[in-house]
Amino acid sequence: MADYDKESAGLTTSRPKPQSRKWIWIGVPVAIVVILAAVLGGVLGSRAHKNSSSTSGNAAASSPSGEAAASQAASIKEQVGLFPTGTDSQYLLPIYPSTTNTAAFTSPTFNPSSNVALAWPKDPFQPSNAQPTAPRTDRPRLIAPAYKWAALPQLIKTDPYLKFWNETIFGNATEYYGLPPVVYHMDGSSGILDNAREIKMRVKAFSYVYRMTNDTKWLDRTFIELQNAAGNGTTPFGPNNQTKWNPGHFLDTAEFTAAFAIAYDWLYDAWSPDQRSSILTSMMFYGLEQGVAAYEQNAWWSVGIEGNWNCVCNSGLTMGALAILGDDTTGTAEAILANTLPNALQNCIFAVSSDGTWSETANYWYFGTTGHAEMASSLMTATGSDFGLLKNNLNLNKTGLYHMHVTGPGSLFAYGDHGPNKFSTTANSILFYGDQLQHPEYVLFQRDQHDAPEPNSMFWYNPEVSGAFWDAMPLDHVFDNSTDQWAAMRSSWTDEDALYVAIKAGTLTGHQTHNDLDCGDFVLDALGTRWAGELGSGDYLSTGYFSSDAQDSQRWLYYRKRTEGQNTILVDQANQLVTAAPTIKFDSSGTEQGSSTVLEVSSDSTAFFTADLTSAYANVTSFKRGIRMINGRKQVLLQDDINASGSIMWRMHTNATVSVSGTSATLTIGDQKLQMTILNPPDGVSMTTGVAQRFDNDPALPEGQVDQPNPGVTVVMINLPAGSYSLQVLFNPQWSGMSGSDFKTPPAVSIDDWSLTSHN
Ligand SMILES: *[C@@H]1O[C@H](CO)[C@@H](O)[C@H](O)[C@H]1NC(C)=O
Ligand SMILES: *[C@@H]1O[C@H](CO)[C@@H](O)[C@H](O)[C@H]1NC(C)=O
Ligand SMILES: *[C@@H]1O[C@H](CO)[C@@H](O)[C@H](O)[C@H]1NC(C)=O
Ligand SMILES: *[C@@H]1O[C@H](CO)[C@@H](O)[C@H](O)[C@H]1NC(C)=O
Ligand SMILES: *[C@@H]1O[C@H](CO)[C@@H](O)[C@H](O)[C@H]1NC(C)=O
Ligand SMILES: *[C@@H]1O[C@H](CO)[C@@H](O)[C@H](O)[C@H]1NC(C)=O
Ligand SMILES: *[C@@H]1O[C@H](CO)[C@@H](O)[C@H](O)[C@H]1NC(C)=O
Ligand SMILES: *[C@@H]1O[C@H](CO)[C@@H](O)[C@H](O)[C@H]1NC(C)=O
Ligand SMILES: *[C@@H]1O[C@H](CO)[C@@H](O)[C@H](O)[C@H]1NC(C)=O
Ligand SMILES: *[C@@H]1O[C@H](CO)[C@@H](O)[C@H](O)[C@H]1NC(C)=O
Repeated sequence: MADYDKESAGLTTSRPKPQSRKWIWIGVPVAIVVILAAVLGGVLGSRAHKNSSSTSGNAAASSPSGEAAASQAASIKEQVGLFPTGTDSQYLLPIYPSTTNTAAFTSPTFNPSSNVALAWPKDPFQPSNAQPTAPRTDRPRLIAPAYKWAALPQLIKTDPYLKFWNETIFGNATEYYGLPPVVYHMDGSSGILDNAREIKMRVKAFSYVYRMTNDTKWLDRTFIELQNAAGNGTTPFGPNNQTKWNPGHFLDTAEFTAAFAIAYDWLYDAWSPDQRSSILTSMMFYGLEQGVAAYEQNAWWSVGIEGNWNCVCNSGLTMGALAILGDDTTGTAEAILANTLPNALQNCIFAVSSDGTWSETANYWYFGTTGHAEMASSLMTATGSDFGLLKNNLNLNKTGLYHMHVTGPGSLFAYGDHGPNKFSTTANSILFYGDQLQHPEYVLFQRDQHDAPEPNSMFWYNPEVSGAFWDAMPLDHVFDNSTDQWAAMRSSWTDEDALYVAIKAGTLTGHQTHNDLDCGDFVLDALGTRWAGELGSGDYLSTGYFSSDAQDSQRWLYYRKRTEGQNTILVDQANQLVTAAPTIKFDSSGTEQGSSTVLEVSSDSTAFFTADLTSAYANVTSFKRGIRMINGRKQVLLQDDINASGSIMWRMHTNATVSVSGTSATLTIGDQKLQMTILNPPDGVSMTTGVAQRFDNDPALPEGQVDQPNPGVTVVMINLPAGSYSLQVLFNPQWSGMSGSDFKTPPAVSIDDWSLTSHN
């Protein structure tokens, strides 16, 4: 597989940046230190680049010793500082400057250092026979043990990321400080989950700042928030009985318990005995006792649920139990741990499939992995072992790769439901997984993201990480477990204007009822925006929304969940069959990005994904959909080879203004344009547009229910009568500096004959 970047390193991009992009963070000026590159480039530059899995062992022969490498890496990171120059205000993704700094941006690695100024000291608590109920004797126990707090001030001085996060957390805590305690709001079937997560987010920030300052105003403010959530504040908070934390929607109970656990544990020595006991009493009454009851009743989320519910519920209960072990004399904490740990080992950890994909959706990954990572991390720090939470699913180490590829320059390939507000939920689980499972690229990727600054990161981040996540990172990847079957392909990891395509097939059941009927669905990003996109969740309160994933489920009556609400083919205007069992094929030129943030791929650099989707339709004899990058990843071809006895409708949802003309359409977003053209159009065919709403002859919604409106969204359509076609749609983003003759018109090739070279 070619690594084209090595030939092209040093080229500058021909695509100018859009002028009017707003930056929403970063006060730290970026210093790209050319002098350092000159001094160290020869040592670290091209050599380190060659070996994508370099370790201190194999690097030893030709490179500085571990300690010297660590110290060089430390001085480079100080010089470069925080690398991205800001965060894109629309998609909240980092903006990378164009640079070729081969000294700084080498293979991702950890440079082990024994220098306490550069690395975490070893945990002094190393039990030889760890037990879930035998916690360390010092506090805190959860995620952030005392030896890490002691090391933090020094590390903040030597690591630009820790420094930035520390400042941001102080700023966020200061903002929350001035707000009234979170106001109780029961949001139907999403319960009081937003309340719980907002309180958890605040309590973590307050507790962090208290420990970093010893200023009791933060302790007092934390207690006000806890009293409020326990119904002892100045305004009412939920029912005045044991259902205050809404155990009927146990995620809420679990997240409240986690918030109380952190406050109890991180501030343990600061609380008065009365405060400590009142926090414990409330957490026990509204949280842990409800957890015992849930297990006694075999709560649905504890039985075979490989998804976020199992992770979040077990995690919150585990954190609560670990926090009070020893102080609780009723045996409740032990009873909880006897249930939660085996249950998460059986369920939660297997929400990551064999290819790393999360069982639910790209957004639910955040909730599930935050729960899982907090649970594993709390057990490790409190008791000295993860008891298998990190190791019993051997594929957990791929879930960072899943998250990286499902994140395009136009944000997530957000198929299926998007989930509730995130608040305390982030992607920082991959700071933890990256460190624990030896994937430095996950750490490097996540540390640049907008949601990195929060207390967990201060303890999960391994400051010994160095290099660039994009160095030697392939541009494409296929995730081929039959339950998900999706691929991502892009033209760059660091250009916010990059071309990105993600597409899925996958089975339509077994996703915790968070999926859509969406085989063949795709998104397309280019020129800093999303051209083909997702509509997201319907209203979770709608009748039957989560009833089941059976063919006749009421869920499939809602536009956003129906096949017509996806970017795929519709036959007879009908939903796809939930029995779909697609097969897929994928290939890639294997192009990797190199050390530079500037990447120009060669003209034969490509990737393609094809899926046989015949089984997803009733009135289809055969249907294969293929998508590929052509012309050096500057254009995209989407092809449907279909033979159907029902009417065929090609559909794509876009936020663009669409102007159609015969067999082509021009899409405009801001000052950017994308041209779509039907190649070799069947007789009489044309592009049309329509509104993103249900057809008049769709089966009726449940009584009193409505679809969510999709303002600003246009559906681009191609309608064909029953028959056999090879429908090719070419997407030409109008890159600046590229003239009409620079665009290629690919040959017509049957999908069965697609290969890496078939469209050169
Ligand atoms: C953390 O940030 C705060 C607010 O900017 C600052 O006052 C404090 O000195 C920082 N802590 C360290 C250890 O630098
Ligand atoms: C924290 O503060 C930063 C910088 O002001 C802001 O961008 C971010 O949205 C805040 N985060 C939260 C969770 O409030
Ligand atoms: C806060 O108090 C603790 C306990 O007395 C002490 O160890 C720590 O150094 C103090 N931290 C600060 C920032 O003053
Ligand atoms: C708790 O209080 C609420 C509101 O007053 C009431 O609707 C509910 O039935 C009570 N639940 C129990 C278990 O007592
Ligand atoms: C709230 O009030 C109840 C009843 O007085 C008490 O048992 C509990 O400990 C209090 N909890 C908090 C956090 O103030
Ligand atoms: C897909 O992932 C699931 C969950 O990890 C696993 O049970 C199954 O065996 C995988 N299937 C294949 C074909 O690898
Ligand atoms: C994940 O871990 C397993 C077991 O240790 C290993 O065989 C595999 O190569 C790892 N995969 C990745 C992507 O790190
Ligand atoms: C429209 O833009 C919003 C906001 O960026 C995005 O969430 C949504 O997916 C886009 N919709 C389509 C159809 O591209
Ligand atoms: C398949 O075609 C038949 C005959 O035209 C029609 O009655 C039926 O509704 C179609 N089924 C689906 C699922 O589109
Ligand atoms: C399309 O399918 C029909 C029904 O199976 C078949 O008779 C016909 O030959 C097929 N057409 C082509 C071009 O394969």
